[in-house]
Amino acid sequence: MEHELNTLQSQARELLAAVENSKQLEEFRIQFLGRKGRCSTIMKALGKVPKEDKPRLGQMANSVKKEIEILYADKQKSLSLITAGSSSQDNSIDLTLPGRKPEIGKLHPVTQIMNEVCAIFESLGFSVAEGPDVEHDHYNFEALNIPAHHPARDMHDTFYVSDSILLRTHTSPMQARIMEAQQPPLRVIAPGKVYRCDSDITHTPMFHQVEGFLVDRNVSFADLKGVLTVFTQKMFDKKLELRFRPSFFPFTEPSAEVDIACVICEGKGCRVCKRTGWLEILGCGMVDPEVFKKVGYNPEVYSGFAFGLGIERIAMLKYGIDDIRLYYENDLRFLSQF
Ligand code: FA5
Repeated sequence: MEHELNTLQSQARELLAAVENSKQLEEFRIQFLGRKGRCSTIMKALGKVPKEDKPRLGQMANSVKKEIEILYADKQKSLSLITAGSSSQDNSIDLTLPGRKPEIGKLHPVTQIMNEVCAIFESLGFSVAEGPDVEHDHYNFEALNIPAHHPARDMHDTFYVSDSILLRTHTSPMQARIMEAQQPPLRVIAPGKVYRCDSDITHTPMFHQVEGFLVDRNVSFADLKGVLTVFTQKMFDKKLELRFRPSFFPFTEPSAEVDIACVICEGKGCRVCKRTGWLEILGCGMVDPEVFKKVGYNPEVYSGFAFGLGIERIAMLKYGIDDIRLYYENDLRFLSQF
């Protein structure tokens, strides 16, 4: 009997270790633990052993049976885990596949250019100031020598919030805000969003400008030219042709618009530069004495220059993009290239 129990135990261990699926496990259960199985048979045989051996053999038989039951339960558990995995596979979930990497975001190309532009002016000694997008008519127009009904207001295609509140149409209100609060000498840039009811391949209803102004004694147009030339050289890493075109802004006199040789067609003429070979990137000029008077500066003592740069235009030229609206379509295939 003792020998039979040992054989039963070792065979059960061996067989169970070789079981690979639920069918084999069921066969094992019937053979060893079933009603007419080997454990049952050996238990029944205990009745026939001599009385004095019964307690020892009985205990031995119980512990062998218990071990077989435990080994069986463990095997059942491990097989059910494997089955769960494979049934998930049937449902097209492969638990062995590596996880998906979360996409890492990047700065929008316009933000990248904005940061670059600000860094260049900071390296030239300009400090950075920010102002509100929702602006008073006073700062957007009146303080800049554009009174009510002035024809220059038509150029701005303004989004009004109320009669006296609007979405700023340019960053120039920051000239008035800063000059009102500080005394010269001033060397400031004011980056930010501006809004105009305008949309085509070189215009968007929301775009970014960087206002820059310098006020001190004896500031001349040559200083303005120098600063803008250094800026474009640093921005485009090469000597690009600049064109100062006489223009008009009520808050600067004289005024100019600056064009840069179109880098998309290299000056040959394309749809972006409207076949002219040039793309306008900024407006500028010498601060009008009327603006100084409104903020209490003496125009006999101080002079200054100011400019307003279009950031999206710079981004178009820098990256060779021929439609400004692409920047705002939120197409990741486009945006992730920068
Ligand atoms: C102005 O906004 C003046 N405030 C600039 C200025 C500042 C002049 C200081 C004198 C002194 P303008 O409307 O030309 O000027 O706009 C300046 C630049 O913004 C343009 O050269 C162009 O690069 C860009 N820009 C204008 N409208 C749009 C638009 N709808 N979409 C994208 N960029 C635009």
